[in-house]
Amino acid sequence: MKIGLIGAGHIGSNLARLAIKNGDDVIISNSRDPETLADLVAELGPHAKAAWAKGAATEGDLVVVTIPLKNYQTVPVEPLEGKVVIDTMNYYPARDGHIADLDSGKTTTSELLQAHLPDSKVVKAFNSIFAGDLISTALPKEDPNRRTLPIAGNNAAAKMAVATLIDQFGFDVYDAGPLREGFRFQNGTPAYTMRANREQLIEALKKG
Ligand SMILES: NC(=O)c1ccc[n+]([C@@H]2O[C@H](COP(=O)([O-])OP(=O)(O)OC[C@H]3O[C@@H](n4cnc5c(N)ncnc54)[C@H](OP(=O)(O)O)[C@@H]3O)[C@@H](O)[C@H]2O)c1
Repeated sequence: MKIGLIGAGHIGSNLARLAIKNGDDVIISNSRDPETLADLVAELGPHAKAAWAKGAATEGDLVVVTIPLKNYQTVPVEPLEGKVVIDTMNYYPARDGHIADLDSGKTTTSELLQAHLPDSKVVKAFNSIFAGDLISTALPKEDPNRRTLPIAGNNAAAKMAVATLIDQFGFDVYDAGPLREGFRFQNGTPAYTMRANREQLIEALKKG
């Protein structure tokens, strides 16, 4: 699979490493010229290349948005139509500024991205794990200590595709429901960054 990454920071670069290890191709981008990603692409090897964000959105079969939430409206819309889009973003008012509809609880972060990308299938995932843990806590399928990560989304087929990918990357998956339920594992909740198995995660999500 070709995975497009919009964002090449802590989360984006580690998801790229997991994708390459999994045998996927990666098209990675940041807010600047693709040349600024030369070192990362050299490290990732021949199955990775850098592009502008629009190129990563166009070329990816599945695309990950992993940038500061304040910039979500710059994510290209048309190239993502019909595609599965993973949203890793969390809301930090100190970084992102205040967003009234999030402060009031009227909406959630991934619902904002879904509203920006009305014809894409947004799945919230990888927002509740520290970037370093993506590498250090990934385990093979048969390992009894495997960690479970929550996902949320409004499209069942998209969630299945994302769950398959997360499983290949080294984690079990728990479907927490529609995008709206993503608030249960956003930053500040018990489930956020918890190294949990399925049962522990379900308990934590109830308290979110
Ligand atoms: N770090 C964690 O442990 C963690 C855990 C869970 C969730 N998250 C969330 O995941 C998201 C990414 O976190 P991070 O820690 O990876 O952030 P980060 O290290 O600060 O990296 C952000 C990346 O996004 C790029 N970017 C910024 N604006 C962009 C735009 N408009 N178009 C394309 N690329 C853009 C940046 O490119 P430039 O270098 O060109 O600015 C950079 O590559 C955030 O919303 C964060 O809250 C982070």
